[in-house]
Amino acid sequence: MSLPVATSIAGVRHAVSTAHAQGRLVGFVPTMGALHAGHAALVRAAADRCGFVVASVFVNPTQFGPLEDFAKYPRTLEADCRVVEEAGGHLVFAPSAAEMYPPGRLTHVDVDKLTDTLCGPRRPGHFRGVATVVLKLLNIVQPDVAVFGAKDAQQCRLIRRMVRDLDVPVRIDIEPTVREPDGLALSSRNRYLTPVERAVAPGIYRALLNLRDRAAVEKDVGALQSGLRAELEAIPGARVDYADIVDDDDLQPLARLDRPALAAVAVFLGTTRLIDNLTVG
Ligand code: PAJ
Repeated sequence: MSLPVATSIAGVRHAVSTAHAQGRLVGFVPTMGALHAGHAALVRAAADRCGFVVASVFVNPTQFGPLEDFAKYPRTLEADCRVVEEAGGHLVFAPSAAEMYPPGRLTHVDVDKLTDTLCGPRRPGHFRGVATVVLKLLNIVQPDVAVFGAKDAQQCRLIRRMVRDLDVPVRIDIEPTVREPDGLALSSRNRYLTPVERAVAPGIYRALLNLRDRAAVEKDVGALQSGLRAELEAIPGARVDYADIVDDDDLQPLARLDRPALAAVAVFLGTTRLIDNLTVG
């Protein structure tokens, strides 16, 4: 493995301050590992804009619910380092849980309102875990630019707002969702799908594309939403967690498509929960 890996906070800070002292801009891509071409695109985007790029690989325990997949979440650090290196990254930060969460912590970050809808109520505590770990990582790495993927639309909005509300000195860039040729959004969780589930999974994106077509003429959000839900429910073996069209800015419910909106869905195929989204209107 030729790419350097820092496991301590002091180690990554030292590398970043050296890069800053050399006059390089520092880019940062936080991840939970099991890296795929979607993550690689974020590293590449960071490397296009910055002379030193750090990717973190940390399966953050505080953003998983008690019944979620923390224990079985794929851990593939060596392969992840190769992905980061090939995409033009310079350093992987892979801390232990003990390094990130020494005993006795009392502080966390809650972003209100943006977490009231979509995944928020379905994954209690998830976004508190995300916001807190991302703020910690931004404070540890102190990058100039941090890059996130549009696939996690609610996460993007929450992080943008947290950075604004708490005056975190970083630019947040959002990159488009990278998809398989058949439209399925790349996700570390796709590897849980059985061959049969994998075969029907592109129906999720197809339903979003069909919704976008219908939204060109139909402006009633209730009607659009029920069409979207029906199409998702027609995917064999699918259980729809939510299929909502919300205000693109504050993620609140909308009655009519009279402003930019986000169609966001979460669908279980078997035990695997997949999310996807598309802007409409
Ligand atoms: P993770 O799911 O590993 O995703 C890391 C980053 O990759 C996120 O910004 C996510 O939106 C982006 N990403 C995932 N799939 C993508 C795809 N198909 N196309 C483009 N980008 C994609 O999101 C997390 O980790 C965690 O919540 C984290 C922010 C690291 C905090 O623990």
